[in-house]
Amino acid sequence: MSKKGLFITFEGIDGCGKSTQLNLLSEYLKSEGLEVVITREPGAKGLGEKLREILLNYEGEVSSNCEAFLFLADRAQHIDTLVKPAIEAGKVVLCDRHTDSTIAYQGYGRGVDLEQIKMLNRIATSGLVPDLTFVFDLDVEISQMRVGKTKDRMESAGDDFHNRVRNGYLEITKQEPERVKVINSDDSIENIFEKVKQEINRLK
Ligand code: ADP
Ligand code: TYD
Repeated sequence: MSKKGLFITFEGIDGCGKSTQLNLLSEYLKSEGLEVVITREPGAKGLGEKLREILLNYEGEVSSNCEAFLFLADRAQHIDTLVKPAIEAGKVVLCDRHTDSTIAYQGYGRGVDLEQIKMLNRIATSGLVPDLTFVFDLDVEISQMRVGKTKDRMESAGDDFHNRVRNGYLEITKQEPERVKVINSDDSIENIFEKVKQEINRLK
């Protein structure tokens, strides 16, 4: 238990470019000799994959509270079975979406009470907080173009919803400037990655 790795999360509206940057960072850190684990919420593996299928593809009505609890259930399973063991083994865990997604999407986007989500996030993570979080900020119009025509249940929620989510992320960034770094993502992949590296080098 004495060795401790790092936990870095990637956030932003759909199509903001976070997976692209996560993969670049993974290659960079591996080239520096670090052991890297790439994962995601919802649906890293096993039970999580089933929850992801429901969350992204279920076609009937889903209440906002139900949606929040399903994302939180996925998170609890993911943190306990995959993230914590990896961090305790000294690995660097790069996670595509985490607690801030629930605050931004279910809180700011759907209107679920923010304090309740924060409390439930603490339960789902047993208090584990990322060492660093990137928020890739981008206009909804540009991000929707990047997502393309095939949209899942969350991606189809409309521009007003995604604008509330985007503003939610910017609020989170203001509230926790030490942990959460916002990067303007209306830029080239290379320029954005330079900014990611600058933040990573500050952690070292
Ligand atoms: P996310 O994980 O946030 O949904 P992705 O990294 O999968 O986003 O990127 C969505 C799409 O946009 C992909 O086709 C990707 O190649 C492209 N993309 C990513 N970053 C940029 C960028 N900076 N400029 C233009 N296109 C980008
Ligand atoms: P995904 O395909 O992983 O989207 P992306 O490539 O944009 O990351 O789908 C995850 C979707 O689930 C995305 O629309 C955001 C949403 N989501 C929430 O609404 N709340 C959450 O807590 C999480 C983790 C994701």
